[in-house]
Amino acid sequence: MTMRNQTDSLALNGKMNPRIFLIGFMGSGKSTLGSKLARYVGYDFVDMDHLIEETAGMTIPGIFSEHGEDVFRKWEHEILLELCGRENVVISTGGGAPCHNDMIRIMNDHGATIYIQLPANALKDRLLNSKTERPLIKGKSESELLEYISSLLAEREKYYQEARYVVNGVNLVAEALADLLRESY
Ligand code: S3P
Repeated sequence: MTMRNQTDSLALNGKMNPRIFLIGFMGSGKSTLGSKLARYVGYDFVDMDHLIEETAGMTIPGIFSEHGEDVFRKWEHEILLELCGRENVVISTGGGAPCHNDMIRIMNDHGATIYIQLPANALKDRLLNSKTERPLIKGKSESELLEYISSLLAEREKYYQEARYVVNGVNLVAEALADLLRESY
């Protein structure tokens, strides 16, 4: 099947939800999978963190250090509300977004949510190898990082589990997500 036919059968037949939200812990692969998924189904791709940075004219670490996490969460919420007005878009969300300000409900009300689930150990390895600067984990040793991820993941899991789809993030490919999203309107 060609890419064009795939796009026709998924996005253009009106059965795929016009907004797809990828949620999950830091390092779970939301942005990489999201941009591939968007290309595959012919949707736009938005990385929420990048949009917040563009709108604020500051980096995420800059927002955390200058304004604090509460202000970041407020801006994250505002950007989410704006994104709920867009169509034909795959959105990768920040790892904490679904767990604050009722945002998991907002996402579920406005689109199809997919939780990319990975165990704490796998997240730790990915985050150790990541070049993205993340204020919540900056400066942690490997063992501190694992402890931090395990405890934050335990807190966040109940929000993530509210997603419409929960998928195993190990060896996950965008095509598998596209298959899942058929009939997701
Ligand atoms: C955060 C995750 C980050 C970013 C911010 C806070 C979190 O996004 O939104 O640093 O609370 O888990 P990623 O999940 O893309 O790293």
